[in-house]
Amino acid sequence: MMTRPGSIIISAAMSTVTRRDFTRLLALSGTAGLLPISALGRSRADLGPDDFDWTNAPLPQTPAAPDERFWRDVRARFLVPRDLTFLNAANLCPASLPAIEAHEKNLRLYEASPSPDVRSGLMTRGKEESRKILAEALRVTPEEIVITRNTTESNNFVSSGLDLKAGDEVIVWADNHPSNLNAWRTKAQRFGFTVVTVPTVPAHPGAAGYVELFAKAFTPRTKLVAVTHVSSNSGDMLPVADICAAARARGVLSLVDGAQAFGVLDLDLSIIKPDFYTGSMHKWPCGPKEKGLLFINRAVQDRVHPSVIGVYGGQVGISRTFETHGQRDDASIAALTEALKFQGSIGRAVLERRSRQLARALMDGLRALEGVKLWTDPDPARSAAIVIFQPGTLDVRRLGTALTEKDRIIVTTRTGQQWPGLRMAPHFYNTMEDIDRTVAAIKKYLASGV
Ligand SMILES: Cc1ncc(COP(=O)(O)O)c(C=O)c1O
Repeated sequence: MMTRPGSIIISAAMSTVTRRDFTRLLALSGTAGLLPISALGRSRADLGPDDFDWTNAPLPQTPAAPDERFWRDVRARFLVPRDLTFLNAANLCPASLPAIEAHEKNLRLYEASPSPDVRSGLMTRGKEESRKILAEALRVTPEEIVITRNTTESNNFVSSGLDLKAGDEVIVWADNHPSNLNAWRTKAQRFGFTVVTVPTVPAHPGAAGYVELFAKAFTPRTKLVAVTHVSSNSGDMLPVADICAAARARGVLSLVDGAQAFGVLDLDLSIIKPDFYTGSMHKWPCGPKEKGLLFINRAVQDRVHPSVIGVYGGQVGISRTFETHGQRDDASIAALTEALKFQGSIGRAVLERRSRQLARALMDGLRALEGVKLWTDPDPARSAAIVIFQPGTLDVRRLGTALTEKDRIIVTTRTGQQWPGLRMAPHFYNTMEDIDRTVAAIKKYLASGV
């Protein structure tokens, strides 16, 4: 990579001590963007092209056919060091530099003067701009967007907010996250309605198979179906538009948990047509932590009650009543804008293609290794960018530790579950080199043991 104006530099070859020094300097300087190159103790002349890793310069325009060079440029907008292969997007993503810098700028502005003027600038204009961009990204209207803390809270706002009573039924999928499974069961005990659980299946049954599974569960008493767009346990992608349509045809509400879809799939909620859709900004959108999304379809807004009543609601639509959470972290809410703009500037369809390309390459590489059992269905109609597999008979916990400590590859280990093994979730900040390194590491441990 070439030197760019405003570049921040850390060498992949830097010694541990230098890296620690760098971290301290980063903390002292307050902003990565202000860190002078000399702070690294090396002059520009000492640095080779491979040393360049981070930059806050604007990302070049996405080429018609983005190559590895472009994706390395994208990666340079993340603080994850080059020698760390981060494959854990399904858990938590690094925020992009534009999001970090916007957050920091907002915070400094705020803390320099928490006056009504500055506060309302962030809380009103900043938050509403974030809402507008969220709505654009999902192809819906700002009047249908609530900015929450995370998917967990969003799911709970739905299960706590509907008028459900004895005799009513709610269909859930056994593979839902606890916030969309246990939460329904707990509220059923309180309000008297019944939860009907659609079981998981050993392998993706195809879109029609999944629709049939859910359709079989509908009864005249069904009031809502709660599903997950992309499963964090199997990697299965559900035909959510079809499931929502089946629900709608029966006058049943739909809640889609998009925690593993929002920020990686090029979503169009005007096609999926859920009544409720939820997500987290700290996962695939690479935004600030503890920010979530709740979409409430205009058509059903009069059927759900807010769970928190306070002040400082949003300016438009459902946010007026659903966001009155009292004082919030306005600086980071306003920074959602830059996170979403950054992804939008690459192009959401381009980003989805890239993440899928990385997941595909990973699946192809793993499948070629003797002993690997891929749980995730590689058909792009059946999965997105989550890859789950069993690495032969290797002890998964030890393997996870070895990957982190020896190979600097970050993944999730899964033991004692329906699909045991490793979960890897590549995203647009990964490179093909990351994928090759990972497949090579798994190959090495399959051959040598761990
Ligand atoms: C499908 C699904 N829903 C909800 C969540 C919870 O997300 P958060 O912790 O951001 O609320 C997760 C977390 O991994 C998830 O995979």
